[in-house]
Amino acid sequence: MPAALSLVIRPARLGDALAIAALHHTAVHQLGAPYYPREVLAHWSPPVTLTSAERRYRETQDDGGLTLLAEQDGGLAGFGVVLPEAGEIAACYVAPELSRRGIGRALLGAMEATVSAHGVHEINVRASLNAKSFYSAFGYHVSGRGEYRFEDGTVMVVAFMRKDCSPVG
Ligand SMILES: CC(C)(COP(=O)(O)OP(=O)(O)OC[C@H]1O[C@@H](n2cnc3c(N)ncnc32)[C@H](O)[C@@H]1OP(=O)(O)O)[C@@H](O)C(=O)NCCC(=O)NCCS
Repeated sequence: MPAALSLVIRPARLGDALAIAALHHTAVHQLGAPYYPREVLAHWSPPVTLTSAERRYRETQDDGGLTLLAEQDGGLAGFGVVLPEAGEIAACYVAPELSRRGIGRALLGAMEATVSAHGVHEINVRASLNAKSFYSAFGYHVSGRGEYRFEDGTVMVVAFMRKDCSPVG
């Protein structure tokens, strides 16, 4: 289904941090649940507080991450985090009730354009298993299998995926 015409992509602000973290929590626990055990989901997205949400937002910025929001009718529909100079997509999350309406596509397109604008033509993503089909649909190929190890030793399996965006010709 195509994205609604009212979809707006804009850079996030600190004041968006709580809504971003809440959407992340919902998306992880609903869309990730068929692919990961409960203890992995709990580490991937622990309960959200304003303090933890703002800390995470600031850490993302300190790491060189640009957070983009997708808003529909003024409400948060999804967000993405891109590290343009590193050519890395660090996050792409859509509200579960708005899945498969092209919001992820719009966010990914905006993040890829940001990377290209920095003269970087290879994009890498550490994709959760539930998101592999999404990235594959946009030309990303699996380059390896990765493991993210949380502090207590819990392991989350991910897929390293890569896309060559070099200009043609
Ligand atoms: C992955 C995610 C961002 C996709 O967002 P979305 O808005 O539903 O995706 P879109 O509607 O733009 O999908 C575009 C295309 O991607 C593919 N795709 C998306 N989700 C898919 C799925 N679950 N299974 C198979 N293909 C999928 C399809 O080809 C789809 O086109 P179609 O709907 O016309 O068939 C969303 O499911 C999500 O937030 N997942 C949980 C968070 C997460 O794991 N994010 C990745 C972290 S690296």
